[in-house]
Amino acid sequence: MSDGVGNTVLVLVGSLRAASVNRQLAELATESAPEGVTFEWFDRLGELPHYNEDIDNDDVPDVVVALRETAARADAALVVTPEYNGSIPGVLKNAIDWLSRPYGEGALKGKPLAVVGASLGQYGGVWAHDETRKSFGIAGPRVVEGLDLSVPTNSLDGKHPRENTEVAARLRDIVGKLAAEIG
Ligand SMILES: Cc1cc2nc3c(=O)[nH]c(=O)nc-3n(C[C@H](O)[C@H](O)[C@H](O)COP(=O)(O)O)c2cc1C
Repeated sequence: MSDGVGNTVLVLVGSLRAASVNRQLAELATESAPEGVTFEWFDRLGELPHYNEDIDNDDVPDVVVALRETAARADAALVVTPEYNGSIPGVLKNAIDWLSRPYGEGALKGKPLAVVGASLGQYGGVWAHDETRKSFGIAGPRVVEGLDLSVPTNSLDGKHPRENTEVAARLRDIVGKLAAEIG
């Protein structure tokens, strides 16, 4: 366990939408960071090319280098995503694929990772969250058990999630437990 000082958590948001509820949840998580923990957002998922082994070489695109370098600097990762058609949004799955290579040496290898998010459906996108955990669990990070939060967006009444005391408390708890997992 770490005292949290000087640690960095990578933040990935699975929605590109400017008014994204998941982006707002990620803002709330960032505001909830324990003392000494910095949240570093990688906000360029929409710029990543589709994963292609032919371009995953020494001359890999700059945005991929930036993703992998940001992930390499991080001590943990927080993924905040909606559900699209019962599963992981394409931009996020694409980022998982880029982060999974080089095979066995991905930049998040062994690092603690948590997945949360919000979606319109009554289960808050839990399928996407479970599948994101499954996929990242194969890709290299260490998915931390029990750090679950799937928020039905209707429960937020159109307000920023920071105004929902239950969501804010649960997210703060998850962020604290994720930070405590940093070895
Ligand atoms: C392409 C697409 C597919 C969607 N599929 C689902 C779904 O399977 N389950 C669900 O609960 N909501 C689904 N939604 C609704 C999203 O949960 C809702 O738009 C949510 O607010 C998106 O997150 P954001 O606000 O962070 O962009 C879908 C939305 C889009 C645009």
